[in-house]
Amino acid sequence: MTARELRQMYLDFFKRKGHQVIASASLLPDNDPTVLFTTAGMHPLVPYLLGEAHPLGKRLTDVQKCFRTGDIDEVGDDTHLTFFEMLGNWSLGDYFKQQSISFSYEFLTKELGIPMERLAVTVFEGDQAVPRDEETKQYWMENGLKENQIFFYGREENWWGPAGQTGPCGPDTEIFYDTKKTACGPKCGPSCKCGKYVEIWNNVFMEYKKEADGSYIELEQKNVDTGMGLERMLTFLNGKSNVYETELFLPVIGKLEEYAAVPYQESNKREYRIIAEHMRAMTFLLGDEKRVVPSNNEQGYVLRRLIRRVIRLLSRLGIQENILGILSEVIIRQYGDDYPELKNNENFILEQLQKEYHLFAKTLETGLKRAESAFEKIGEDRILSGDIAFHLYDTYGFPLEFTKELAEEKGIQVDIKGFEEKFKEHQNNSRLGADKKFAGGLSDHSEQTARLHTATHLLQGALRRVLGDTVGQRNCITIVKGFPNKVCYNKGD
Ligand code: ALA
Repeated sequence: MTARELRQMYLDFFKRKGHQVIASASLLPDNDPTVLFTTAGMHPLVPYLLGEAHPLGKRLTDVQKCFRTGDIDEVGDDTHLTFFEMLGNWSLGDYFKQQSISFSYEFLTKELGIPMERLAVTVFEGDQAVPRDEETKQYWMENGLKENQIFFYGREENWWGPAGQTGPCGPDTEIFYDTKKTACGPKCGPSCKCGKYVEIWNNVFMEYKKEADGSYIELEQKNVDTGMGLERMLTFLNGKSNVYETELFLPVIGKLEEYAAVPYQESNKREYRIIAEHMRAMTFLLGDEKRVVPSNNEQGYVLRRLIRRVIRLLSRLGIQENILGILSEVIIRQYGDDYPELKNNENFILEQLQKEYHLFAKTLETGLKRAESAFEKIGEDRILSGDIAFHLYDTYGFPLEFTKELAEEKGIQVDIKGFEEKFKEHQNNSRLGADKKFAGGLSDHSEQTARLHTATHLLQGALRRVLGDTVGQRNCITIVKGFPNKVCYNKGD
């Protein structure tokens, strides 16, 4: 089965069950200032989950592009991703647990033909605030699941949301695919990380709203919010053991092989996989309808970290040339018909990758040498100091996890706390410096100062027009000579 077929089957199934298909929203959420990215299909629907009437009615379905940073360290294993597509269906105050479970069961076993024995589900065991969800267990059993396929867990496993700090949330029932690998021990179950069970779908019964003060209030409207990971589902449906063997990643891995010294194999699979995964994610971030620009802030910094990590991993595969654009084009071709924003933003994507490559490639080599010499001098504790990690960040633009990764390859740990302290100290110093400069530079209101101040703004305006919105006033390079406020094209560049 292809990804396109799976998307279509899902949407068609829920259309037949009275749902209206809605379009994927941007990766940058509109309705939630507390999170950087759209992490689930429910995100763009928050106002409707809270009670506002949706123009298309009470039953909705879609394929939503999502991005999560939480699993970034696991990328490279068989199933974890930063960017992924989530298939979802919603009931906005319409059907609830029983119907939702029947829909999921029918889609998995009848439409996709997954044998019932390959499923395992988890259910909320209850706590002081919310009772044990016997009802959900009952509905699963009515559909034919056996007692030993149903597992109860607490809030950590079976409570979903809110996506940000506040918003709709509730107990859920998660559906797992049993790979039939041997259990790792008597306690092995869906919550175990050994790989026997892989989560494929989550049905959240959204009855609560978390408030800013941490309390939960009951919603008048009981909703269902579900999410299925397209890539994982596709993997199992095609009898593959990991997402990289699906049609979604094979083209980019194939292109990478054309340039790498050694083909994709066990010894280099981590590098290949991370590059393939991050390339896809960065292409979608850059090519989003709201276009993320690499920078040192928020979404832009997440994007920058992905790009920088890939540049280093490419060099580990022996690739010295800049093939970011070549790899990204493979992804644009592959996804462009389903996500036309990628095609519309193709030039922008390629330009940004080119720019970012040149910014970082310059400092990467010297930074790596600096890191090497620090590693050689490491003490018996095998800990790299926060000062050095900060120096690598500040001078060579090495994101913290990048340094961590380099260090871990040598069996060295990084003093994260030390780094954070240094980081804060530096931020405070810059602020202090800026304040002092402001006082010294502008409070005299001399004509000369005011003129230069205006000149800085004009120059920034011009730079913004040429270079984009990330141009800002920072304290790195002086380009207005003799003027205290300096202009640069982002720190670390
Ligand atoms: N919002 C739920 C999730 O992301 C479905 O798992």
